[in-house]
Amino acid sequence: MLSHQANDGGKRTSLHGHWSSRMAFILAVTGSAVGLGNVWKFPYIAGQNGGGAFVLVYLVCVFVIGMPVMMSEVLIGRRGRRNPIATMGLLGEEEGSSRQWQWVGVLGVLAGILILSYYSVIAGWVLAYVVKSATGEFAGASSGQVTAIFTRFTGDWRLVTLSHTIFMGLTIFVVARGVERGLEQAVRFMVPALLLLMFVLLGYSINSGYFADGVNFLFTPSWDKLTWGSVLAALGQAFFTLSVGMGAIMAYGAYLPEETSITGSSAAVVVADTGIAMLAGLVIFPLVFANGLNPADGPGLVFETLPLAFGKMAGGVVFSTVFFVLLSFAAWTSALGLVEPAVAWLVEHFHKTRAQATVVVGGMIWLVGLGSVLSFNVLSDVKFLAGTIFDNVDYLTSNIMLPAGGLLITIFAGWVMCRNSSADELGGSGGLYKTWRLLARFLAPIGILIILVNAI
Ligand code: TRP
Repeated sequence: MLSHQANDGGKRTSLHGHWSSRMAFILAVTGSAVGLGNVWKFPYIAGQNGGGAFVLVYLVCVFVIGMPVMMSEVLIGRRGRRNPIATMGLLGEEEGSSRQWQWVGVLGVLAGILILSYYSVIAGWVLAYVVKSATGEFAGASSGQVTAIFTRFTGDWRLVTLSHTIFMGLTIFVVARGVERGLEQAVRFMVPALLLLMFVLLGYSINSGYFADGVNFLFTPSWDKLTWGSVLAALGQAFFTLSVGMGAIMAYGAYLPEETSITGSSAAVVVADTGIAMLAGLVIFPLVFANGLNPADGPGLVFETLPLAFGKMAGGVVFSTVFFVLLSFAAWTSALGLVEPAVAWLVEHFHKTRAQATVVVGGMIWLVGLGSVLSFNVLSDVKFLAGTIFDNVDYLTSNIMLPAGGLLITIFAGWVMCRNSSADELGGSGGLYKTWRLLARFLAPIGILIILVNAI
């Protein structure tokens, strides 16, 4: 996937190599974007925030704020061609501002570590659900039984630690070996296969008799239920699902060939990611209502509704196993983006090998992740600020660190970088460029600020 190039037409080159093609880049970014955020998080956050109005605000955030942030990250990354910390420092100086912009990179590296610490725990649940599906635990189960299976599993800290450890191990393994072909193939196959299975599930949920209730819940806005808190949750989810605001896309942009269109690639990723999230919502909510579950059930929502549906389907054992395998892959390809900034930084800054850097970062993330492991069992009663340790790490990263990172990134790309630099990367100063610049300079930063200020 990454090919080494010595010369890039006189411009800077990346130490870590470059994507072999535009498609490789799109696949990598799609792999990072499509993950638990779409299938696990979007439905439960939408459920907790009352559906309709939240979903509309989320969509506006994705297109008006998330997409310009994504383009800004890619263009900054490609111009700097280093890890996000070094790139921000370098361009800060080069554009006549200051090296101190490197702190945006530092914030991102920390956010990536914190996010993966709990992401890995949930991905571990998915791995465990592969086994549970394959052994037929859900076959014909009632909603009470499926809920009991979930509560029993997450309540056992040893099992959850084990699956968290396996997932981190898998992540370390792939990142340490360098991304290369394996992943490109995985994403190439995983995203279409996941889509296909989602459509099978969609067919099922359309037939559940409650499809209209699901659609209603998702798309009929009741504005009175919308608080600034849920607007912030929508913004945070927009950042989370697109993988923006922490430099992951910046790190990937550093490996992007010079001639690739940033606008086109970003648009493709945003549309694919949003489509999968909407599909997940359309699958989950009819099932929630058909089975008398509560849409505001929280992180367990998908782990209760989907096994229930699979359990009643012909061939459900196979479908269910394949589905959770695909979801594991989706989580896996997302995890890579979360560690890449930290790993690239260690490699460049401390001259570590990729393997050493990955083991150090991965080990740290594993350790921090134990806090989230215990949030669902031993320490489930320890609550402060936003709730359990898991709730706090999630709130801090999605709702504060990512929007703050996105704010600084758009200010940098829109105000600090000179017109020539950004126009050079975005390929000219036509209408698309002007639109991006308008969003990056005004709408996105002002929007983020208004939401952050009002919600906190
Ligand atoms: N976007 C991924 C998902 O929806 C999660 C993710 C991967 C991420 N890389 C990221 C979130 C970087 C924020 C920043 O599952």
